[in-house]
Amino acid sequence: MQKAKIAVFVSGGGTNLQALIDAASAGKMPHAELSLVISSKEGVFALERAKNAGIPAFAVPRKTFDSREAYEKEIIKMLEQDHIDLIVLAGFLSVLSADFVSRYPDRIINIHPSLIPSFCGDGFYGLKVHEEALRYGVKVTGATVHFVNEITDGGRIILQKAVEIEEGDTPETLQKRVMEQAEWVLLPRAVEQISKEICEAQAD
Ligand code: GAR
Repeated sequence: MQKAKIAVFVSGGGTNLQALIDAASAGKMPHAELSLVISSKEGVFALERAKNAGIPAFAVPRKTFDSREAYEKEIIKMLEQDHIDLIVLAGFLSVLSADFVSRYPDRIINIHPSLIPSFCGDGFYGLKVHEEALRYGVKVTGATVHFVNEITDGGRIILQKAVEIEEGDTPETLQKRVMEQAEWVLLPRAVEQISKEICEAQAD
């Protein structure tokens, strides 16, 4: 069976990448092949995780290119060389241009650590999202996997999962619970779902 070829874009620790690697080796993503990892930063642990799993992994820092155009051109070249079908943003902190995003309609997905449309959009990433949820005083938060379009966190929602906020939560404890209960569960499920659709479309 032909599998959908996946590129995972990362910037940091890569626990969501690890969730994908673990799901793939447990046979939970039969329609997906983790083919490429691109990091916006050198030396991050996500690159180690990829290498340990035998996935080709490269750091492509924006600052090593003169322009965003040149940077994205390099990424597109890598994606085309590997015949990538689906791009997964898993804690990727570099901003992709509208031009880049429009090249891959319904072929880029992102994981965001809140229930969109709460606590999302420009400036909401990582721990900041959980700080804002706690500051607001919501009782339930969660995670969302969505398609990426030109609007930050504005694309069609694929999967969401709610997580309870507990008495005494700090941004760090909340981040950990949202990852464990929602992100690491949702992302492999969403990747398999979209990969299966891609495989079925290719078979038609
Ligand atoms: C994750 O919590 C992810 O949802 C978040 O960054 C973290 C990356 O962790 N993404 C965003 O906030 C995007 N707006 P990881 O590197 O351990 O997967």
